[in-house]
Amino acid sequence: PETPPHDTADVLVVGSGIAGCAAALQAAREDAEVLLVTKAERPADASTDWAQGGISTARGDPEALKRDVLAASDGTADPDAVDVLVDEADVAVEDVLLETLEIPFDEREDGAFDYAREAAHSERRILHVDAATGTHILRPFLNYLDDHERVEVRQDTAALELITHEGRVHGVLTDEDATGHPVYAGATVLATGGIGALYPRSTNPDGATGDGIAMAALAGADVADLEYVQFHPTAYAGDDPFLLSEALRGEGAVLRNADGDRFMPDYHPDAELAPRDVVARAVETEREETGEVILDVRTLEGGFEDEFPGIAESCRDRGIDGDEIPVAPCEHFLCGGIDVDHHGRTTLEGLYAVGECARTGVHGANRLASTSLLEGLVWGLRAGETAAGCEANPQILDAPELRNSDPALPERFAAEKFDRLQRTMDDSLGLERDPDEIARASAVLRRLKGEVDAYTRTRTSRELYELRNACVTALLIARAAGENGESRGCHHLVREDGPTAEPEAPR
Ligand code: SIN
Repeated sequence: PETPPHDTADVLVVGSGIAGCAAALQAAREDAEVLLVTKAERPADASTDWAQGGISTARGDPEALKRDVLAASDGTADPDAVDVLVDEADVAVEDVLLETLEIPFDEREDGAFDYAREAAHSERRILHVDAATGTHILRPFLNYLDDHERVEVRQDTAALELITHEGRVHGVLTDEDATGHPVYAGATVLATGGIGALYPRSTNPDGATGDGIAMAALAGADVADLEYVQFHPTAYAGDDPFLLSEALRGEGAVLRNADGDRFMPDYHPDAELAPRDVVARAVETEREETGEVILDVRTLEGGFEDEFPGIAESCRDRGIDGDEIPVAPCEHFLCGGIDVDHHGRTTLEGLYAVGECARTGVHGANRLASTSLLEGLVWGLRAGETAAGCEANPQILDAPELRNSDPALPERFAAEKFDRLQRTMDDSLGLERDPDEIARASAVLRRLKGEVDAYTRTRTSRELYELRNACVTALLIARAAGENGESRGCHHLVREDGPTAEPEAPR
């Protein structure tokens, strides 16, 4: 019988942020035929495009960067993974960002790079372009891949399920066909990003629905550290939150409560430059106790408008007085994810994961600022190389067909379920967590997943799969949080009568 329509690739990459692009680039350099599918319709649908602060280098003393990563993680990062990240940082930045893509990182008047400092970094070592670094990296990267003879980039194409056979992953079913279009691949690299859409307030694009984590977990891959959801301390506190980069505090902006008091020195010896989880909890406490926290940018050494024109413009667009910006913590990054080794290999043969959807071990319980683009770049290159060398040819199988009795999904159905999911995550799996609340949230999320599963038995659509992925990932986060009785980094347990863990010693 005739083989139904399908595509093949040596290496299939799912996702179009820096990690997916790096994997595609390196696999193509190794002579693999690469197909990159992404549900993004434009670069701005990937979190990388939203990254502000920059990308850390290891300049100066690489051992100091290792110490900073480990300290920010409260000693929970995997030292071997941190070695990989730091030892390969400068080579990867030089090779891909400077030589191949010629990213115009900001320079000082003397022509040297304008290395920035951010919270919990002991040195100035962060390359940036204004505070819009992600966009300045991602767009040239996608253009470069578009022109590459061994890479095809297919936008507006969502992966719905992994194709597995006898414990091995052989590609994905995409939504190019109503019953699932098979793409068979020798190696499949998930680079689907984070989980911002699971929370009502996030610094991520709306499409961050945990797709890769859910697909991998449903296929049987191990996941780890999912309880460590990082909240950025300084997002705009009003509707439509946007990020006020940590670079602002790195350059001298300070936090004040509603009484005008600068409070961070009372919480940590490094004050505004303390690790992100510490600052986020302090901001939340001061908001609760005094009513408001503002980021005071009058103290910026080089002036707000001159140093951060992009952020100043975002403030003006929202009618915010540029000197005192109301801020609140906001979901920002998932430190855990699909468990991978130093080459991005998951526990399933043929499947790799890189970037935010992966758990490499470098972030532990709390990620250091400006290491996410770097992790995506370093692990993307490593996984691309390993995937290209895996010598498995794409195998054409009988891929399962998805159901499509009625592709229409009532908009209200998805919106209501997403709303319930976000409220549950916000109430019980936010900055502070009560073990009883986590247990209640797990029960709500299980019911929700049951309702969504019942729907997926009769219909299929991208929105429904995103909802399914969000439910699965939310449940896994709740399960991980429920199983971890120790307050560490982004997982901070409290009971109504006070913290369950020992009070935090200043780090
Ligand atoms: C920021 O610019 O504050 C974000 C940097 C990061 O998340 O690493």
